Amino acid sequence: MNRKFLIIALNLIFLLGLLEIVGLLEKHEEWRTFAEEPVNLTLPNGQVERCLTCHQGIEEISPSHPIETFGCVSCHGGNGLALDKERAHEGLRGGRNPAALSVTNESCGQSGCHGDSNGNLYRSPVETVPLSPMATKAGEITEIAFTFLWQKDRLSRYSVERITDTSGGTKELLAKRGLATSELQEFVSSGNPLQEKFKQNCLASCHLNTGYSKENPDENYLAGCTACHTPYRKGSTYQGDDPTIDSSEPGHAPYHQLTTEIPYTQCNSCHNQGIHSISKMEFLQRDDVPESAITDPQADRNENYYIPLAQYSLCEIELDCIDCHTRNEVMGDGFLHGNKASAQTIKCYDCHGTTQQEANFEMIESQKHDAVWASRYFGDEFPELKPGDKVAVTDINEPMINVRREDGQVVLYSKVNGKKYIVPQVKGSNCEQNPQEQNAESCHTCHDISEGIK
Ligand code: HEC
Ligand code: HEC
Ligand code: HEC
Ligand code: HEC
Ligand code: HEC
Ligand code: HEC
Ligand code: HEC
Repeated sequence: MNRKFLIIALNLIFLLGLLEIVGLLEKHEEWRTFAEEPVNLTLPNGQVERCLTCHQGIEEISPSHPIETFGCVSCHGGNGLALDKERAHEGLRGGRNPAALSVTNESCGQSGCHGDSNGNLYRSPVETVPLSPMATKAGEITEIAFTFLWQKDRLSRYSVERITDTSGGTKELLAKRGLATSELQEFVSSGNPLQEKFKQNCLASCHLNTGYSKENPDENYLAGCTACHTPYRKGSTYQGDDPTIDSSEPGHAPYHQLTTEIPYTQCNSCHNQGIHSISKMEFLQRDDVPESAITDPQADRNENYYIPLAQYSLCEIELDCIDCHTRNEVMGDGFLHGNKASAQTIKCYDCHGTTQQEANFEMIESQKHDAVWASRYFGDEFPELKPGDKVAVTDINEPMINVRREDGQVVLYSKVNGKKYIVPQVKGSNCEQNPQEQNAESCHTCHDISEGIK
């Protein structure tokens, strides 16, 4: 071989090696683009975390998870001491979302947090949420399967993910309330083109088990616990102060935030956005949702709240969804419900009573009551319950923590902003209802304020 060539080749190899080392150094020192010194956060147990070196400025996720106590690794996993990104991010739970249902057992569900029920499912959302129809879509699947004669009865057998009832439901109770087998199989299409379309168009999103995909970043947040607890609308961008998060890229929550003050717009990320077309086996998105649905939940409620042609009374748009829908309806009650009707409990009379009787109340006797515990999770304006208070209860005896009897009146406190309302009672009013007809549909024949609203 020519000697000149050999020298040039050797030089090239040396140069490449040098570049490689410089590159590595640069990568290793990436943190210097964010901070001059490593930022050490010392937790109460003495452990040190350095995630804030790069993520300096990130918002505290919520007042009940202070940075000084929780750090970052308790929720996210990863290597707290590492200063290079690859090592720091090794083993991150759920990538961008540690509250995806595939990882909540390790993150939110750690012992002492939100999964350790000690038999009390009311305080264990990590156990109950995966069983809810919002996670399984069991009802929608059964309706379609029955309509197209893929099955002969309406017993629910399928879910978007395979799911076994491991918590509350005994078989007997399931038969009574659940209308589901105790183990739902994952819905797999048999190659039938209609089933394939159903799987792709109807089961891939809009439920709590949706997985993360780079092509469809919205689904990252409209899933798991964040589907409700992290305010997010399709296409949102990051507005906070963490310099590592690209604030021009859609598909990030506006803030690193968890909240229980869930506005109706959040539930509407999935609900009231359009109609399912059975003939096309497609979801047809509404095109009349105002811009304010993302920017200002308080504006344009009449246009925003329900799909056009829905009927509703004043309170059904004045209040937020979570003012009426209870903890067990929304986060599951530990039973594997086969459809939404089975999981849905609240009735108009739970607040308004009937011509025969007022709403039902229970006196809180002990500080340890679940209702007292649950009432502490809202903002400062929301009055916490205490022994002696009277709280409304549903037909299955679940407390409605925001509906109370005070000074002879029935009052409601908004869970979103603490605002106090008087709840008018049907008994003693001029209401012309038939006490036997208590479905919203029948009330709406007289109490419908949607008319005239476009
Ligand atoms: C060397 C700087 C650096 C350190 C140290 C670091 N990160 Fe990051 N992190 C980044 C950057 C930059 C991004 C933006 C996404 C990317 O470039 O991968 C990011 C993104 C993330 C994401 C979003 C992941 C995704 O898939 O979008 C999470 C969650 C995260 N970091 C958590 C942590 C935690 C927890 C720690 C500490 C254990 C940590 N980071 C330490 C630089 C760092
Ligand atoms: C109580 C659990 C919890 C703690 C503690 C926590 N996070 Fe998060 N983090 C989440 C959840 C849930 C999400 C997804 C929702 C969101 O983006 O706000 C998230 C998202 C993120 C993201 C991705 C944001 C994006 O838009 O790409 C980063 C980066 C991140 N966290 C960094 C951190 C750092 C750094 C710390 C420590 C200072 C920390 N987190 C502490 C729960 C937590
Ligand atoms: C990620 C999408 C998604 C979000 C976000 C969501 N839901 Fe749902 N929800 C569903 C689906 C899907 C069903 C019905 C499944 C079926 O019929 O099989 C459902 C059913 C319900 C039901 C009837 C059954 C039940 O479980 O009680 C109520 C009530 C309900 N949702 C209220 C809410 C409220 C209130 C919020 C906000 C706090 C909310 N939803 C947020 C997807 C969602
Ligand atoms: C479909 C919406 C929705 C989803 C999904 C959801 N939550 Fe909730 N969560 C709520 C609502 C609404 C409340 C307020 C309950 C009330 O009124 O008492 C709440 C309350 C809470 C509370 C306060 C205490 C309590 O139980 O009332 C915690 C903690 C909580 N959720 C954790 C979680 C965790 C962990 C997950 C995921 C495993 C999760 N949530 C999923 C809607 C949701
Ligand atoms: C003023 C109280 C109130 C508000 C506010 C409210 N709901 Fe309801 N919702 C009810 C009642 C009561 C029923 C049961 C209707 C019946 O008895 O026929 C119901 C039924 C439902 C159902 C099941 C009915 C079905 O078959 O579709 C879903 C899903 C639902 N609501 C979701 C929501 C969502 C999402 C919001 C907010 C965007 C919301 N609700 C706001 C009181 C309310
Ligand atoms: C969680 C409690 C709650 C539930 C459930 C509830 N309401 Fe209401 N309702 C209220 C409150 C609070 C007001 C007073 C609103 C205000 O003052 O703005 C109200 C007011 C009303 C009014 C009087 C409106 C007016 O014009 O003054 C009617 C009619 C009504 N509700 C019908 C219904 C119907 C029908 C349902 C079932 C679909 C229902 N409500 C479910 C709390 C509730
Ligand atoms: C046949 C028509 C009709 C039906 C059906 C009906 N209502 Fe009424 N309702 C009325 C009338 C009329 C009034 C009296 C309005 C007034 O005094 O200004 C009234 C009054 C009320 C009030 C008291 C409002 C106030 O401000 O004092 C409530 C609450 C109410 N109805 C709830 C319901 C509920 C819940 C249902 C369904 C179970 C229902 N109504 C069904 C006609 C009806």
